[in-house]
Amino acid sequence: MPTQAEISAEIALLAKEYETLGERELHPRLDYPPYRSSRLRHPEHPLHRVDPEGVELTSPVFGQATVDPREADLTSRHDGDPIGERMVVVGRVTDAGGRPVAGQLVEVWQANAAGRYRHPGDQHPAPLDPNFTGVGRCLTGPDGRYRFVTVRPGPYPWRNHHNAWRPAHIHFSLFGRAFTQRLVTQMYFPGDPLLELDPIHQSVRDPAARSLLLATYDHELNEPEVSMGYRFDIVLGRTPVEHG
Ligand SMILES: [Fe+2]
Repeated sequence: MPTQAEISAEIALLAKEYETLGERELHPRLDYPPYRSSRLRHPEHPLHRVDPEGVELTSPVFGQATVDPREADLTSRHDGDPIGERMVVVGRVTDAGGRPVAGQLVEVWQANAAGRYRHPGDQHPAPLDPNFTGVGRCLTGPDGRYRFVTVRPGPYPWRNHHNAWRPAHIHFSLFGRAFTQRLVTQMYFPGDPLLELDPIHQSVRDPAARSLLLATYDHELNEPEVSMGYRFDIVLGRTPVEHG
């Protein structure tokens, strides 16, 4: 199994190659060898364009009535309070022209404050929190805004290489106005020392595009005595997708 130093050296080489490329890559590179666990499952052929009208005939749909506003508060889904640093994450969803996208289904999922997912696939020895499931969703308002209340997720180990740890992140999925517009991405936290070591984050090779995945700490969003505030705006067609 490669060491972090070997993975970091590969990341550095690919970053250097990008500097000489002469064109911008907004999205993650699909063939990104330091991300070992994607090597056998990333697409190797160009994506097929499909007719969005036709795909809508058989694709999943959701109704606004099925989204309960309480689902946006991940800290109040159980009898007690979850452990961890309480935070709100708010943002605006806009299209590439800056117009707000209203009625957008925004879904999030995340590890708990100890870095553990409530999922059978996560068996690493960090505690589960009986008061935290780690999933939520909401619809954007008329101005494209969304808001979640949650706890800050912890970093967690994954087996991409020896001593591999994912930086703290929240997974986001936006359903779009049509099924073919779905965006899946991750939100990271500014100043996390794991960001530069992480092959998933670094697979977005363009530094400016990568920075779009960082939330901004906003002191004005804090609820005094209660929670920290982070802002994460999403621009459809510009925010990099996740190939996790
Ligand atoms: Fe994750």
